[in-house]
Amino acid sequence: MNEYMKNCDLAAIITALGGRQALQDLLDVGPSAISNYLARGELPQRAHAPVCEALRLRGYQVHPGSLEILGQTQLAGGTGPTTNFRSDRPAQRVLLIVGGGIAAYKALEVARRLQDHNVEVTGVMTTGAQQFITPLSLAALTASQVYTDLFSLTDEAEMGHIRLAREADLVIVAPATANLMARAANGLADDLATTILLATTAPVLMAPAMNPAMWQHPATAENVARLANRGIQFVGPTAGDMACGEDGVGRLAEPAAIVQAALNCLSADSQPDDLSGLHAIVTSGPTVEPIDSVRFIANRSSGKQGHAIASALAARGAEVTLVSGPVSLPAPANVRLVQVESATEMLAACEAALPADIAVCAAAVADWRVENASSGKLKKTGNGQPPSLTLVENPDILNSLSTHQLRPDLVIGFAAEASDLQDNARAKLARKGCDWIVANAVTRSDGSSVFNSDMNSASLITGETAIDWPMMTKAELAVRLVNHITDHMADRLQAATLRDLVSQSASNRT
Ligand code: CTP
Repeated sequence: MNEYMKNCDLAAIITALGGRQALQDLLDVGPSAISNYLARGELPQRAHAPVCEALRLRGYQVHPGSLEILGQTQLAGGTGPTTNFRSDRPAQRVLLIVGGGIAAYKALEVARRLQDHNVEVTGVMTTGAQQFITPLSLAALTASQVYTDLFSLTDEAEMGHIRLAREADLVIVAPATANLMARAANGLADDLATTILLATTAPVLMAPAMNPAMWQHPATAENVARLANRGIQFVGPTAGDMACGEDGVGRLAEPAAIVQAALNCLSADSQPDDLSGLHAIVTSGPTVEPIDSVRFIANRSSGKQGHAIASALAARGAEVTLVSGPVSLPAPANVRLVQVESATEMLAACEAALPADIAVCAAAVADWRVENASSGKLKKTGNGQPPSLTLVENPDILNSLSTHQLRPDLVIGFAAEASDLQDNARAKLARKGCDWIVANAVTRSDGSSVFNSDMNSASLITGETAIDWPMMTKAELAVRLVNHITDHMADRLQAATLRDLVSQSASNRT
């Protein structure tokens, strides 16, 4: 199942990266995952590209297959010469749009690192970007002309902007400033960058970078949501010290992370199939509890997070049964969708889907249903008295799966909490008997709701540890969760194999 890189000198890699915390941050895993990797002396396959990139950015020459550190260039810190490991497959083409922000210089690193992966980069720079870096630097690093002007006669004669937009396999915007995203979200085409974004049919990856207050502003959140709704992928921003002296979420993702996200976009099917052979059940959306034949009790869940998780699991090769209440989302690719209405139906569908290795309960299940729902339409009595509805508690699907005879190896619940997020989530984890809880606040600091939004922030609570995920798209949060699931399942599989070996050798002895 999970392909691990054997025999890499992990201790040397950790030292070269600057310590365990650096590796944790890079891979977005907790301390126990690093301990597991060290115990095994190997890293999961998905860690390969980001670790390789991060080492190279720190000036190390790395063997791409084994991650062996071959030496360090004199100019450690990302500006030293590198070895290009090129493969025989045809190069893919990336159009790199550099926006006007202080982080523009990091786009140079992105351009260079992409070429290490047999990717041809053509640069496009906004007027603002040229205040920070010169087209000449980008042209020198990409060995290709850099385009800056929508109405350049020479550029248009050489390669019209439509062709430029169409010939790319992927368009990356890094840094994506608040202004550039706002213009793209509104479909403006008032310069070369926005015209390309409107004309391209290629996937688009944006790496936002801006002041934390600008990132948090509802206008930016709305623009990001609109872009995400149109299928634009995002990487970052991350939290940390900003060039403006403030601290918060708004930093451009590290070049290694942008390169990794770009490689994922370029070949979605090159994602490791490390969950192949495993069955996952995901619940999603609201449940709808009938009052009578036309009325019901429901909630505002959109199903976006649950569907994104199902999609991310399927992308990693899992066989996925998505049990969903009524939502207006299309079924994600490569999942088996079971549509249900009520909590009772959702439980029955989940139990029918067992056995499974993984269960993720992301549905907002109604806690109660009407005891005697009427089969017809309730009529007004005429005496001004409303009908009285008796509510009974619904089955708890998460708890039922956690305590089932065919309990999946890993059961994950969600906890939407209005207060004391982590304490309430831990209590819920114990009460429900699940392994992990993804805890999120129902209402954000700005008063907006997580329901129906494309963005989410959460804490992943796994036993003693809690990992905080800042605000990001629900799709990105799903990928992060699935990365953790993949690591966990790899551990379980290895332990199981070990048990098999021990019992086999015991039976050989008898
Ligand atoms: N859940 C479930 N079945 C239910 C209720 C909840 O499977 N009948 C699952 C949800 O899918 C989620 C987790 O339990 O994974 C927590 O849901 P939440 O609504 O936060 O918790 P409740 O059990 O309803 O607790 P409370 O509302 O009292 O906090």
